[in-house]
Amino acid sequence: MSTNFTSDQRLIVALDVSSAAAAQKIVSALGDSVHIYKVGMQLYTAEGPQIVRELVGSGRQVFLDLKYHDIPNTVASAVREAVQLGVSMLTVHASGGSKMLLSAVEASRVSSLQILAVTVLTSIDENDLNSTGVPGAVVDQVIRLASIALHAGCAGVVSSAREVKALREKLGDNFLIVNPGVRSAGADHGDQARVVTPAEAIQAGATHIVVGRPITAAKDPAAAARAINQEIRTAADELSRNSPVRASSAH
Ligand code: C5P
Repeated sequence: MSTNFTSDQRLIVALDVSSAAAAQKIVSALGDSVHIYKVGMQLYTAEGPQIVRELVGSGRQVFLDLKYHDIPNTVASAVREAVQLGVSMLTVHASGGSKMLLSAVEASRVSSLQILAVTVLTSIDENDLNSTGVPGAVVDQVIRLASIALHAGCAGVVSSAREVKALREKLGDNFLIVNPGVRSAGADHGDQARVVTPAEAIQAGATHIVVGRPITAAKDPAAAARAINQEIRTAADELSRNSPVRASSAH
């Protein structure tokens, strides 16, 4: 694995729609500007695995974001099915614990599927966290869960962009960090209270960003994706000038 990605290998577009037709419309509008698509629980619940097969069959990479969290045997079985579908990246909850994470990683070994561990959901604040019996700050729980996930062999983590810097400082450069909730400077922030731009996420050390509505709801989705790819490219170039190790470290 390498963190030397081109900009279109770092951008993941979320297909948060409820039909295969709506998803395919977005995919064809985006053409060559996007290669990785996130299929999450909305589209998967509506359309099932067929939409994943169609995307993979047409040469796209699929990030299956179903956030598995169950007993190790059940998660491993689901991961084996995802391998059969040809999925490239898949999420599990790091809070499922070490045994569950190890089982997921083990089940993915026969393929190039990358297991990503969700740390703390971006919707959870310190009060929510503390009320579940976990004391302290969100960032500390993110580091704790990411550390467990990486020890279990996960390829990386999903986190808020706010935690990327701390993750890199504490756990190094050798793993993927996927950030959702990213907005270009000056863009409509929608329901996002605290926003980070693609450039800020990449400069902090994220390897991938997930963008949904700013691209899928744009008048010209391909132009919106190209603009974000450009922001990523500029930030990645700057990073490789200022921090070559981080920009090119392999894992
Ligand atoms: O907001 P946007 O449409 O770009 O969201 C894209 C994806 O990122 C969604 O599928 C959502 O699940 C995820 N997301 C997130 N945390 C946020 C915002 C979005 O996990 N703060």
